[in-house]
Amino acid sequence: MTEEILRLEGLRKSFGSAEILRGIDLSVGRGETIVVIGASGSGKSTLLRCVNFLELPSAGRIQFEGRPIGQEGPGGAVRYVESELCRVRARIGMVFQQFNLFPHMTAIENVMEGPVTVLDRPRPQARTQALALLDKVGLADKADSYPSRLSGGQQQRVAIARALAMEPVVMLFDEATSALDPELVGEVLRTMLALSEEGMTMMIVTHELGFAYHVADRVLFLHEGLIHEQGTPRDVLLNPRQARTREFLDGHGQFRLPGS
Ligand SMILES: Nc1ncnc2c1ncn2[C@@H]1O[C@H](COP(=O)(O)OP(=O)(O)OP(=O)(O)O)[C@@H](O)[C@H]1O
Ligand SMILES: [Mg+2]
Repeated sequence: MTEEILRLEGLRKSFGSAEILRGIDLSVGRGETIVVIGASGSGKSTLLRCVNFLELPSAGRIQFEGRPIGQEGPGGAVRYVESELCRVRARIGMVFQQFNLFPHMTAIENVMEGPVTVLDRPRPQARTQALALLDKVGLADKADSYPSRLSGGQQQRVAIARALAMEPVVMLFDEATSALDPELVGEVLRTMLALSEEGMTMMIVTHELGFAYHVADRVLFLHEGLIHEQGTPRDVLLNPRQARTREFLDGHGQFRLPGS
């Protein structure tokens, strides 16, 4: 494998007495695109949220760019320091189902905000970079539009540009197209596919299995808080070995191979 960017070892997460992630081991290489699938409630969002420490793991270890995050104390409990978590979060981009753009800022101001406030970039430099990113997601002509004047697909592409402006090492997508009207899904998926082809390291939660087949280097099927099956898209999506995976896929009748 190429250089390891992210490593999860025995990752567990509980909410109260409910253990949602029950021991996830995963190594993600630079440039890899991983798609996570699984039934509602299987822990997909929780997994992504642990990766960028929006949720703190209950147990296990996360290594990011070769460094274990947090300090392991006696007894193995890991203590997390907020300043370290902020540094890690700043290097991981996340795009959610809801775009959460700042409504009082134009598209370009939304994209500039992180670099200016978090990375202390001079505004002219941040503006130039933001314009290049809006161009990359096909929205250079919407730079001065407010979110309320953009379609859902356009807003989501601004949200992607905003995440990219922080120059992340990894991008996480949690059902980035689930809130969109069907005719707007394609433009966002194409943007994600282009990013993947450029070599961005990505973890994607999606129910768009045709897209998953196309974009993924590896597909993980999450079931009851564990990676129940993983492999190439061809293996997992077309020739699953596990009965649970087959059952899940059978429930997604709309799955079409690209080009079919
Ligand atoms: N902050 C929280 N507090 C308590 N329970 C939570 C919390 N976040 C998630 N859960 C529970 O953890 C389980 C897994 O949730 P998660 O959102 O990770 O599932 P998911 O696979 O993303 O599902 P979906 O496909 O519906 O988005 C669910 O039972 C959920 O209710
Ligand atoms: Mg979810």
